[in-house]
Amino acid sequence: MNQVEKIDQYVVIGNPIAHSKSPAIHARFAAQTGQRMQYQRLLAPIDGFATSVKAFMQAGGKGANVTVPFKLEAFALATQLTARAQAAGAVNTLKFDGEHILGDNTDGIGLVADIVCNAHVALRNKRILLLGAGGAARGVLLPILSEQPGELVIANRTLSKAQQLVALAQTHGAGNALLSAAEWPQLSGKFDLIINATSASLANEVPPISPALFSSATLAYDMMYGAQVTAFLRFSEAQGAQLRDGLGMLVEQAAEAFYLWRGVRPDTSSVLAELRLALES
Ligand code: ATR
Repeated sequence: MNQVEKIDQYVVIGNPIAHSKSPAIHARFAAQTGQRMQYQRLLAPIDGFATSVKAFMQAGGKGANVTVPFKLEAFALATQLTARAQAAGAVNTLKFDGEHILGDNTDGIGLVADIVCNAHVALRNKRILLLGAGGAARGVLLPILSEQPGELVIANRTLSKAQQLVALAQTHGAGNALLSAAEWPQLSGKFDLIINATSASLANEVPPISPALFSSATLAYDMMYGAQVTAFLRFSEAQGAQLRDGLGMLVEQAAEAFYLWRGVRPDTSSVLAELRLALES
């Protein structure tokens, strides 16, 4: 009997998931690189993440991206973790091999690739301010430090959480960067890069930072994106800063997951341009 060749299956798992742009991104990557694969959305019940993953594995699934609210459960489910997933404390990419589940985190490398390769801003010796100390900030911490900035200040509404991130970075080896934790009023001097990793944009709010932290050369980066410019980027624009939202990070983290699964690097620039057009139309 002829065996029909099965197409490799991938999913993005979350709850909710209908909004996810990942299937469109991976479909473009696959077409571009000639990879035979299918990538779909999978809505997992809030209390049914592990069951959904196991069922998908049993059906022959090869890998998954994981999004809100399951990144910590994915971390716990993995039988092996990459160093960057361990440091991030969360997993956004799973790769299956029999019973074996590799957990990776491509968010941080995605952010860095977007800033360095797409926005052409090198981070070496730069003065960087990271706003926020939750999961999103933790996920990008080590990839930023691996670019060898001169100084990284982590500022958060709750100072103790920023201090915990500084301690975490130190245990993983922060390189030569000057590292510190701060509350908003303690911040001073100009920064080359200010990254908003708080979830304040969801409430249309801006962390209360001083306009004096910006110059016209400052790159203000919001890890969020949307059809409307975020409140943080609007505030940064008023200070004369350069602006960038998280759409490029989304595409770059996907490219890194695609590379982990398929061993091929897709071209991200055309996909980012297409997504930008779709977002703005
Ligand atoms: P995520 O996974 O998106 O990082 P999180 O782990 O809940 O979500 O972290 C949210 C981050 O945004 C935290 O740093 C939070 O500050 P606290 O640690 O003080 O809670 C920050 N945050 C949320 N809403 C904010 C707001 N309105 N202004 C400033 N910071 C805010």
